[in-house]
Amino acid sequence: MKEQHISTKFTVFENQNELSSTERKFLQQAIEARDKAYAPYSSFNVGAAVVLASEEVFVGNNQENAAYPSGVCAERVAIWSAIATIPNGIIKQIYISARSDKTSVDRPIAPCGACRQAIAEYETRQKEPIEIYFTGETGRIVKAHSMNDLLPWMFDNSMLS
Ligand code: THU
Repeated sequence: MKEQHISTKFTVFENQNELSSTERKFLQQAIEARDKAYAPYSSFNVGAAVVLASEEVFVGNNQENAAYPSGVCAERVAIWSAIATIPNGIIKQIYISARSDKTSVDRPIAPCGACRQAIAEYETRQKEPIEIYFTGETGRIVKAHSMNDLLPWMFDNSMLS
């Protein structure tokens, strides 16, 4: 028996000024998508921008539903939109921004577990890391260099065979 540790790596930006102009541009697309979210039940608005190797960008935002579990998160709307349009697209980056109508969100909001699993599917398939940037309405921006850093011990298709 032995105890083992997993370490994961993140880059933390104090604010948007520390991002490159390209990173800022993509984050801005996530912010614009966030502000079009349909979130009448939670008042928590999330936007995501998926950047492909081709530099095409696909955005998504959370879509809620009166039957609560029928809603879906911004990240999955964005990633499925990208892959539905470009089935073999290589995903380079995902930018995520969250804002609440009820309270100030001044800390980074990481993608939920279900979205991590959905994103992981494509990272596994493309065998190239996906960088994930996430932030709140203000404050720091966290960059995970791979879904492996957000979802260690992930379940993937190698376990099915
Ligand atoms: N939400 C997202 O869109 N992405 C996440 O990663 C976490 C949560 C949405 C789902 C729901 O519409 C609202 O935020 C509150 O949970």
